Amino acid sequence: MTNNRKVAVITGSHKGLGLAIARKLAQKDDILVIITSRKESDSKATKQKLKAEGIEVDHHQLDVTDAESVTKFMEWLTSTYGRVDILVNNAGVNPSQVSEEASILTAKAETMLDTFNTNTVGALRICQAVIPLMTQRDYGRIVNVSTEMASLQQIPQDFYPPAPSYRMSKVGLNAMTALLTKELMNINILVNNYSPGWMQTDMGGQDAPYTTEEGAETAVYLATLPDGGSQGGFFAEMRKFGGAVALPW
Ligand SMILES: NC(=O)c1ccc[n+]([C@@H]2O[C@H](COP(=O)([O-])OP(=O)(O)OC[C@H]3O[C@@H](n4cnc5c(N)ncnc54)[C@H](OP(=O)(O)O)[C@@H]3O)[C@@H](O)[C@H]2O)c1
Repeated sequence: MTNNRKVAVITGSHKGLGLAIARKLAQKDDILVIITSRKESDSKATKQKLKAEGIEVDHHQLDVTDAESVTKFMEWLTSTYGRVDILVNNAGVNPSQVSEEASILTAKAETMLDTFNTNTVGALRICQAVIPLMTQRDYGRIVNVSTEMASLQQIPQDFYPPAPSYRMSKVGLNAMTALLTKELMNINILVNNYSPGWMQTDMGGQDAPYTTEEGAETAVYLATLPDGGSQGGFFAEMRKFGGAVALPW
């Protein structure tokens, strides 16, 4: 039982940024976190690891590219908790190490479709699943983990590698937020995107300047916005700037 605590679902949260966000949210008295992972054993192990740190969470299998997995997860969530208040769409893949991804001129359609299936359609799948439950209670906070590499206005001048599949999938994720914002205008469900910065994770590598704890800060801020807070925003990692700073779309 939640004892009236808010229920937070974080996709891909057995490691990396997702785990850091989970850890921070779970340390709040009024939030129960559900760790999810593609492999059931991963989220189970993370639940045990957090328990050893004195942090209680629940866990469940969830593959955002698998409609059956999403259905089973939602059945479990509805029967166990009957609510979801916070969703963090963190699950993501970045195939930029693949040689064809060094240029938009060589990027392969299959790689692009696979990347979109996780980073864009996967996030949409989970939004479509949870928004009806959020609507029932007229409360929801949705945080989509994007990247400043998907800022259309900055791409022509930025110094990042091309990473076409990754960038285009996250541009799609940003578009999803704009479209959700249009449809959720009169409901207390706030949807925002942010860029966590370059972090030390399996995806980011060990040379990255930021820790996942630093990258998680803006997610926690957006996941706990008060009523009337930002709707449809795209934010930089706030720790870098000492507060919430909007990125150009
Ligand atoms: N690291 C950075 O510098 C950086 C910068 C900007 C944005 N981001 C974004 O931050 C988010 C987290 O990335 P990270 O750096 O923490 O990378 P990571 O350590 O590689 O974690 C990615 C997570 O996504 C999960 N995932 C992948 N496909 C999935 C699927 N189909 N269903 C459910 N979960 C899936 C992974 O699970 P498995 O272990 O099963 O693969 C893993 O838990 C991503 O959206 C990424 O684009 C990262």
